[in-house]
Amino acid sequence: MSVLKRAAVVGLGGQAQDDHLPGLADCQFAELVAVCDTDPDRAGAQAKAHRVPGYTDLTTLLEEVRPDFVIAAVPHHAGREVIEACAAAGVHVMKEKPFATDPAEAAELAGLCDKAGIELMVTVQRRFHPIYTAALQLLEQIGPPYLVEGRYTFHCPDPAAGWRGSAKLAGGGALVDMGYHLIDLLIWYLGLPDRVLADTSAAAAPGADYDAEDTALVHLAYDRGLYGSLLISRSTGPKTERLTVTGPRGAVTVERGRVCRLAPDGQLIESLVREPAWPCAAAAQIDCFCRVLDRQRPNPSGPAAHLAHAAFLAAAYASRATARTCDPKEFLA
Ligand SMILES: NC(=O)c1ccc[n+]([C@@H]2O[C@H](COP(=O)([O-])OP(=O)(O)OC[C@H]3O[C@@H](n4cnc5c(N)ncnc54)[C@H](O)[C@@H]3O)[C@@H](O)[C@H]2O)c1
Repeated sequence: MSVLKRAAVVGLGGQAQDDHLPGLADCQFAELVAVCDTDPDRAGAQAKAHRVPGYTDLTTLLEEVRPDFVIAAVPHHAGREVIEACAAAGVHVMKEKPFATDPAEAAELAGLCDKAGIELMVTVQRRFHPIYTAALQLLEQIGPPYLVEGRYTFHCPDPAAGWRGSAKLAGGGALVDMGYHLIDLLIWYLGLPDRVLADTSAAAAPGADYDAEDTALVHLAYDRGLYGSLLISRSTGPKTERLTVTGPRGAVTVERGRVCRLAPDGQLIESLVREPAWPCAAAAQIDCFCRVLDRQRPNPSGPAAHLAHAAFLAAAYASRATARTCDPKEFLA
């Protein structure tokens, strides 16, 4: 049996507290050995709660604690410096999505990880959820898909709050943030589209000071005849998350905790439900990463795989800026 890997969590906000710290407590192959946040109160509180040393400076943590890997859950603009510090110290990284804020940064960071010989795995937890894996099998039964419709919405009361309100800090808005998950499903199930045409807005809270889009609609098309759209909004309730792919022999709809296969007339043929609908996938991701580090498993979500996500996002933002259709492949670094 392999020795427990020593993990540090960097960035102790919502995602670390909701997923990664509980995930480390629940996983098989890693243990928490240190925490870090630039906010000293947060670092101190989580250090105390988890009885590990707390740091406000990552480089000091890396020197003093020498963890096997870091889980990085920092605002998007801080991702680069965390990966650079880990690469310099030869420490592996589990990076919260997005991998990078644009294709150039994605290419540089992929090269850096390669050069430093570190593994980096981007956390896209739907890939660790059996419902989303089952959808991949059901998709084989509908014939060549011709239509894809995705919708991911919820209502955030203050779209201007914190770094998420700034397009510069977040690398965009809802599309790069929550939209990353839907884009990941699209790329996983259907590949990178050949054309995208996007509109975005930051109009849900008139008078509020923010420029990161709260809503985005992306039309997309593939040369093989498949087309459709993704609607992503962090200002539109109720909370919905759904991706439907339709082919000549029916449709597959994947939602949180449920996947259905429908006949062409919409009748339900079969469905799979996971109960409870959304158990935390964080422990499974951490254990998977430990297996990657032990060379027992290939990295399912490494830097190279996420160049496509960065290209999709860059094409969508370029399309929004120019009001023209853009080809994501032209943005592949
Ligand atoms: N996978 C998911 O479902 C999911 C959900 C939410 C957030 N996320 C991702 O997690 C990441 C963090 O999001 P969040 O909602 O937790 O943000 P947050 O604002 O709640 O927390 C970020 C924390 O990072 C700290 N920080 C900022 N710069 C830092 C630095 N250089 N070094 C160390 N700490 C630093 C901040 O002080 C803050 O405590 C983002 O990449 C986000 O997209 C993923």
